[in-house]
Amino acid sequence: MYILGMESSCDETSAAVVRVGDGKYEICSNIVASQVETHRLYGGVVPEIASRAHIEAVSAITNEALATAGVALSDLGAVAVTAFPGLIGALLVGVNFAKSLAFSHKIPLVAVNHMKAHVAAAYFTDEVPQAPFLAVVVSGGHTSLFDVPSVGEFHEIGATRDDAAGEAFDKIGRVIGLPYPGGAALDRLAYEGNARAIRLPSPALAGDTLDFSFSGLKTAALNYINSCRQSGTEVPRADLAASYTAAVVEGIAAKVDAALARTGRRTLVLAGGVAANSHLRTRLAEVCRARGARLSVPPVSLCADNGAMVAAAGYWELCAGKRAGTDLNASALDNPDWSV
Ligand code: KG4
Ligand code: ZN
Repeated sequence: MYILGMESSCDETSAAVVRVGDGKYEICSNIVASQVETHRLYGGVVPEIASRAHIEAVSAITNEALATAGVALSDLGAVAVTAFPGLIGALLVGVNFAKSLAFSHKIPLVAVNHMKAHVAAAYFTDEVPQAPFLAVVVSGGHTSLFDVPSVGEFHEIGATRDDAAGEAFDKIGRVIGLPYPGGAALDRLAYEGNARAIRLPSPALAGDTLDFSFSGLKTAALNYINSCRQSGTEVPRADLAASYTAAVVEGIAAKVDAALARTGRRTLVLAGGVAANSHLRTRLAEVCRARGARLSVPPVSLCADNGAMVAAAGYWELCAGKRAGTDLNASALDNPDWSV
């Protein structure tokens, strides 16, 4: 079956055609129009600009995805669209476009949760993760741990109580003058510094909880930067990048390790934009090895927002018998029971 996946929850407009069958997920096309250059001017995503850019791109991107795949609308088994969570204006562009396309061509429509879609990106690897598994989704807006007992069934067992890891990376990156988004630049800079040079608090909350808090870490790093500037010393950017990255990575590793122990799961899926972080990938591979678990992580090119992952997650919803109607609406917030 061919599925058209559409994504517009933040600053990437994307459409992709994915072929699913016999437990295999194959990308036929995956077109992404990134707005990063536009938002870089402002040091972060400007929601109104994002919505307008999605409107300008969505039609051409969809045509290109179909043409590249060599697939006609009449070949599609479903249109899958990210409906939540994300920037509401941005989401509405994709949702309304997908709705119009699906209903005018009588194609089944499915609503997709963006977080589940990130996890679905791991299905484009040679060895498809087999449920049950544990998933850690680390993105610009989320840092969450999910227990996934069966395909598409997500139970959130840990989450950040304030900022997300990606947001925390981007904030410090901006303050020390790295180009937006700071995550990838900090990843590279961290190799040049000493991870033990600056003491920073862990984002892993103490005790039995599997929750995180990144705000204390972010504030501690900002205070450190400010005190350097006030005393006229240059901020040791590489040491800060290394120490900050180590704090984020060790905090996530601690809760992932606890979650593997608690759930007894033997597969971990690492997903989301921050799953591109090389230090995090290496560290979680070590955690998995020590626990006898398998790490499944999407290729770096599929960690960022894209339509292919939405199509794959849409397939799960389709198999579960879920369909969206003309009343489908976007939502900025997570679906609290993760049923979609
Ligand atoms: O998942 P994503 O594309 O968007 C959301 O759904 O939020 O994640 C974007 C985030 C940004 O904060 C970006 O800085 C971060 O992913 N990111 C990274 C790396 N590449 C992207 N963070 C750390 N290391 C990286 N290599
Ligand atoms: Zn995302």
